[in-house]
Amino acid sequence: MNRKSILDLQNSKEKLVAVTAYDTTMAALVDAYSDIVLVGDSLGMVVQGKENTLEVTIEDVAYHTRCVHRGLKQAHLVSDMPFLSYQVSEKKAVENAGKLLQAGAQSVKLEGGEEVTDIIFKLTQFGIPVMGHLGMTPQSVHKWGGFKVQGRSPERRDELLRTAKQVEEAGAYALVLESVPADLALEITGAAKIPTIGIGAGIDCDGQILVCYDLLGMIRDFKPKFVKQYASLSKMVESAMQAYAKDVKAGNFPEKEHTYD
Ligand code: KIV
Repeated sequence: MNRKSILDLQNSKEKLVAVTAYDTTMAALVDAYSDIVLVGDSLGMVVQGKENTLEVTIEDVAYHTRCVHRGLKQAHLVSDMPFLSYQVSEKKAVENAGKLLQAGAQSVKLEGGEEVTDIIFKLTQFGIPVMGHLGMTPQSVHKWGGFKVQGRSPERRDELLRTAKQVEEAGAYALVLESVPADLALEITGAAKIPTIGIGAGIDCDGQILVCYDLLGMIRDFKPKFVKQYASLSKMVESAMQAYAKDVKAGNFPEKEHTYD
């Protein structure tokens, strides 16, 4: 396998490009341009149509990991540990992380600070590299009272600075910072020895990650502040479907070139 390792990511002199993918076709399209492809538990929202990520199971993530694994040649594949797949016991966490590695992931990502440092340590000891995730951690959406920017109050800011260090010391090889003020992300990045990867965390992180459907503009009427849409695929899909439907109804498709003799 010629995929980027965690050491390649840590030694990179360039900003890290990260994006989510959930299937083989998308994985193959994004592979050449990405350092990291994440099978995010965001799949609960963008693939399964749920309100949040809380119902995603380890089997769901393992299935999508197998799909993405088949589409990647060079990008590092990291998969999310979904809600309740790592919090209950260290034994369960190792078992579940192992399922994701067996499905093709090279590392796993899990959310949280001090409360998950023992789990990060244990997984790392068993040879399972862990990416941390702090800030607006979607699995704690009810605790945050919605998808809200984190780290604006002095107390929460101090907590995030402290827990970023703890996650690093527990053995995480990289850290996602989600929806935090840019100056806080800068401070965490300056203090961290591991790469930070931002989403809604400003320009100073060591890399950036976006959900593929967001950056491609695939979800109608959804554009949070931190998303830049590099295409408007929802509009393209709609106009292609409109043209196809018109052709079928008018008897203009298939034409001779699409027909077997
Ligand atoms: O689930 C996900 O897609 C994520 C990224 C947005 C960081 O965790």
